[in-house]
Amino acid sequence: MITAGHWLSECGLDRIDALALMRELADIPHARLLAHPEFTLDAVTTARLDAAAARLRTGIPLAYVLGWREFHGLRFAVSPAVLVPRPDTELLVEFARRHLASTHPARVLDLGTGSGAVAVSIADARPRAEVWALDASLDALAQAGDNARTLLDPSRPGGVLKLRHGDWFAALGADAPRFDLIVGNPPYIGAHDPHLDALRYEPALALVGARPCDDGLADLRHIITAAPRHLLPGAWLALEHGYDQATAVRDLLNVAGLDAVHSVRDLAGIERISAGRLSPPTSAAR
Ligand SMILES: C[S@@+](CC[C@H](N)C(=O)[O-])C[C@H]1O[C@@H](n2cnc3c(N)ncnc32)[C@H](O)[C@@H]1O
Repeated sequence: MITAGHWLSECGLDRIDALALMRELADIPHARLLAHPEFTLDAVTTARLDAAAARLRTGIPLAYVLGWREFHGLRFAVSPAVLVPRPDTELLVEFARRHLASTHPARVLDLGTGSGAVAVSIADARPRAEVWALDASLDALAQAGDNARTLLDPSRPGGVLKLRHGDWFAALGADAPRFDLIVGNPPYIGAHDPHLDALRYEPALALVGARPCDDGLADLRHIITAAPRHLLPGAWLALEHGYDQATAVRDLLNVAGLDAVHSVRDLAGIERISAGRLSPPTSAAR
């Protein structure tokens, strides 16, 4: 038998991760641990903590070890089939909240939904919106569907999440409607980017995509070129991208004929999403 304080100091993990394991697997919140580090762990709990710590030490993300990650105030189940949702991606949800009135129905599309973090969070924040979500991975779509069922009110006026499988807009089919807002966090990491090693437990399809290239822009290029055909007049396209890709993405949005092109910075001051709007009809054309 060992004490909680002893396990914490000997586990060899970052303190934040160790405290998360204590809270989630031993049901010992931080405040209780501070007040009672002498609390004794039983053998079953110690074995559970040790097994989780061993997985974390190999580099497996905490979210996969726990099986969930919080995003925009909701707890999403995440398996290794999906990218672990990142806090920076919440900017896409904030963009949607700014551009969709809570009182009106609207149609929204999430490109590359993964765990469903963005689509479900938008659907939760804007219950009247009809939210579509697509992905090339069937396992990801199953995870997104599970999260939607767990987290969304089944009687929301916008209905259930509409999940589609396939390669970007081809997943929608010929009779798909146009959207009031399209958001997405597509793969944007270059095929030889040195950061990929640290991300080795997450799906390559989510990181470099099915069109690997050196600058990481192949999927963004594909999406931005095709998007205007899927937007209603006056509708926005907002996409997450890499820390050094904002200029290139704004250029792509301008070349695609979108207007009001701009980028939004994350909390670290980095241009993290870029957006453009399909021109609203002019008064002469109305
Ligand atoms: C960076 S992850 C984003 C996941 C989730 N939206 C998030 O922000 O946490 C990119 C997602 O795009 C999907 N994807 C990659 N290539 C695709 C393609 N050609 N068509 C549709 N989805 C694709 C991946 O399976 C993955 O779920």
